[in-house]
Amino acid sequence: MSEPLVYLNGAMTPIADAKVSVLDRGFIFGDGIYEVIPIYGRRMFRAGQHMARLFRSLASIAIANPHTEAEWLALIDRVAASHPADDQMVYLQVTRGVAKRGHAFPADITPTVFIMTNPIVLPPPAVRAAGVACVSMEDRRWLRCEIKSISLLGNVLAAQHAVENDAVESIQFRDGFLTEASSSNVWIVKDGVLMGPPKDNLILEGIRYGLIEELCAAGGISLQTRRIAHDEVFGADEVLLSSATKEVLPVVQIDGQAIGNGRPGPIYARLYEAYQAAKAAA
Ligand code: PDD
Repeated sequence: MSEPLVYLNGAMTPIADAKVSVLDRGFIFGDGIYEVIPIYGRRMFRAGQHMARLFRSLASIAIANPHTEAEWLALIDRVAASHPADDQMVYLQVTRGVAKRGHAFPADITPTVFIMTNPIVLPPPAVRAAGVACVSMEDRRWLRCEIKSISLLGNVLAAQHAVENDAVESIQFRDGFLTEASSSNVWIVKDGVLMGPPKDNLILEGIRYGLIEELCAAGGISLQTRRIAHDEVFGADEVLLSSATKEVLPVVQIDGQAIGNGRPGPIYARLYEAYQAAKAAA
């Protein structure tokens, strides 16, 4: 197979040749949105849901959608087909486009569309078996966290806070209630009930959020969506993260404090197994 290619504004090119203007509003303002889509065995996982979220994101910041769903899927397929790995993580970004700098939307602007792919990097089995450590912090991001925006400074600072504390993620709280982690959704388990924060403007609704809802319904796991107080997280039997690249991942320590018995729990094990079954059936 020849060199992997990326897609940029109508052309397939090697990544080193893909260039955008310094006046691109993604570069100047972070004015754009993105998606991260897993591919397993050369097939996109939950493609329909990722497309729906992409369309919602574009609409929420009033970027005219440049493609139909079928066109988007065909573009992603072209990029993925150029890569030798069977399991990939596609990154897709749309910015408002290139224009003379000025905050408000320019008239007659053409969106910049970029798609690349890389081999998916999943947590190794030993990490999964042991569970991971997280740190907590105040959520200081803006109030439109439901938009999958490329303006990720708050998330970047939260991720760095985790790294500096030997943690995989920062778990964020706003006004004493759980929101989400730097780049994943957060769940708790108490007395066999899985709980997730409301799908409102304070969190990104992960594609895994919807998948976990489906897996719970199919597997008979009780699920509650409600505000979750700080103390409930630290007093939980289990804490889980979910994202495209973490799938579902058990948290066994926050701020050095053990969660539950300090080991991955039974609800995690059931959800992970169901997740793998969903991948295999897709
Ligand atoms: N992040 N919340 C935030 C802030 C995220 O960045 C992500 C995903 C999620 C989970 O969404 P999903 O289940 O659709 O992956 C929740 C991606 C992986 C990223 O930015 O790389």
